Amino acid sequence: MAKNVRIAVFASGSGSNFAALEKACYVGTIPADIVLLVTDKPDAFVTERAKQAGIPVAAFRPRDFETKQAYEQAILAVLQEAQVEWLILAGYMRLISHVLLDAYPERIINIHPSLLPSFPGKDAIGQAVKAGVKVTGVTVHLVDEGMDTGPILAQQAVNVIDNDEQQTAKAIHEVEHELYTATLKKLFEK
Ligand code: GAR
Repeated sequence: MAKNVRIAVFASGSGSNFAALEKACYVGTIPADIVLLVTDKPDAFVTERAKQAGIPVAAFRPRDFETKQAYEQAILAVLQEAQVEWLILAGYMRLISHVLLDAYPERIINIHPSLLPSFPGKDAIGQAVKAGVKVTGVTVHLVDEGMDTGPILAQQAVNVIDNDEQQTAKAIHEVEHELYTATLKKLFEK
């Protein structure tokens, strides 16, 4: 049997995508092991989820470093120590710089709650509802130096429900958990 891929999940928030990926790796749907959670927010709820799942947490506050490069160098040292092969962004609300991009060329993946290139950046679901679109969705893509840019790996449309952000967000998150799992499964089974 092929060896599992060693991945690190990067997250800044509640971590519902982290939880979905953790479960999918645990039961073997995705042939990968989450060997590390990396966060820029030591108090984020995702760190509790990681601890409960027995996954080591690497928490670094960007403000403790003089430059973004120094911040990412510190992360890189931990990633290399843990022999991480792919970086999986799941609600990590920072741009990735050349330090990590050069260390993991075409091996950094992101999920975004819109049909990119529409509604990049923060609050993509709110942006879509305010714009009055009837259909939005979810995108999984390779990360480059831009904000929510980079080659698209998978997309799925989601209807905006009653012009309501909360209901739409719930539907989007459900699709995110399925689409991220399916995309990583396909990628790592190659
Ligand atoms: C997800 O909707 C994810 O797509 C989004 O943050 C949320 C995190 O939720 N990411 C972005 O907006 C990236 N630009 P979670 O913490 O429950 O997984």
